[in-house]
Amino acid sequence: MGLVSCGRNSRARNLAPSCSIFARPASQPRFTQHKKEAFWFYRFLSIIHEHVIKPLHWTEYMRDDALEAAGLNDQNTKVVDVGGGAGFATLGIVKHVDAKNVTILDQCPHQLAQARQKEALKDCKIIEGDAEDLPFPTVCR
Ligand SMILES: C[S@@+](CC[C@H](N)C(=O)[O-])C[C@H]1O[C@@H](n2cnc3c(N)ncnc32)[C@H](O)[C@@H]1O
Repeated sequence: MGLVSCGRNSRARNLAPSCSIFARPASQPRFTQHKKEAFWFYRFLSIIHEHVIKPLHWTEYMRDDALEAAGLNDQNTKVVDVGGGAGFATLGIVKHVDAKNVTILDQCPHQLAQARQKEALKDCKIIEGDAEDLPFPTVCR
């Protein structure tokens, strides 16, 4: 998943890292390149991911710093956290936006089950879905 930023006066910017994942030789396996792989990866990884693996590479400080780029400064902003999983990023989002305005969408019910257990996310809408087929109307302005 990537992050796209749309500034008021700028064209949409893709904030994905510039190093190319496509440079990896085919002989080296990826675990989450396609959504089916990602489903099974997170199906089992979710058991230990949140408490053991994630803190090694993705901290609350890093998350909050990254979210600054989203400019979430209005409690009424409607936010969809696509690939929201267990809700780690969402916990940073609800510091700035009313949880009632936040939707967490993920294809992995096991990840979402962990998000449901988080008190700060109890007012978020949590839905199982596919990032490639979002259940929202497309609005062109
Ligand atoms: C690296 S985890 C990030 C979880 C979450 N954003 C966080 O901060 O903890 C990526 C998430 O994307 C989800 N995912 C991968 N492909 C997806 C797809 N096609 N549709 C919906 N969710 C997907 C996975 O199930 C996983 O929960």
